[in-house]
Amino acid sequence: MRAIFHCDNRWGIGRSNGLMFHLPKDMKFFRETTSGKTVVMGLNTLRSFPGGRPLKNRINIVLCPDDLETDAVHVRSPEALLKEVKKYPADDVFVIGGASVYRLLIPYCTEVLVTKVEADGGADAFAPDLDADPAFSLVSESDPQEDGGYVIRFCVYRNLSPKAF
Ligand SMILES: NC(=O)c1ccc[n+]([C@@H]2O[C@H](COP(=O)([O-])OP(=O)(O)OC[C@H]3O[C@@H](n4cnc5c(N)ncnc54)[C@H](OP(=O)(O)O)[C@@H]3O)[C@@H](O)[C@H]2O)c1
Repeated sequence: MRAIFHCDNRWGIGRSNGLMFHLPKDMKFFRETTSGKTVVMGLNTLRSFPGGRPLKNRINIVLCPDDLETDAVHVRSPEALLKEVKKYPADDVFVIGGASVYRLLIPYCTEVLVTKVEADGGADAFAPDLDADPAFSLVSESDPQEDGGYVIRFCVYRNLSPKAF
């Protein structure tokens, strides 16, 4: 299982339950990486999508303790989520947010794909700071490139001791 997100200088990932930047190249990378795969998210992230609908061409798993009307696969607890995730090849599962779900699941992920944006987006939602976590090692970083008026870098962090489940 892997996680994927873009973040600002402070590991900020969102503001007012939305994204802080419009990044066409990163969006394309996200679409190409996750299409045909399984994506795992919390309710707020599902609600933040256009029309509050699951993502096309992907199996969508949503974590929410309450009743939910959705076409997505609905799980109510972390235990049920990890049981559901085991049904799919580990390489095909991507955790796509938001903050609470990254906090919960990144310890189980083998890799985290982070698009770093050189900016302060004034975030109110944050991913864990992987530079401050000795379990994670930065294994690749692209050259800086322009995207949506910002400088971005595609980075990969490897988890040296992923939690078993
Ligand atoms: N930059 C990026 O790449 C990126 C990607 C995705 C999302 N985001 C941003 O992240 C923000 C949303 O993050 P968020 O943390 O507010 O929302 P979230 O993680 O998407 O969703 C929170 C939901 O998940 C449920 N949940 C979380 N942990 C749970 C647990 N242990 N057991 C049961 N249910 C659980 C919560 O239920 P309860 O509260 O009822 O417990 C809540 O309904 C938005 O700003 C969004 O745009 C950014």
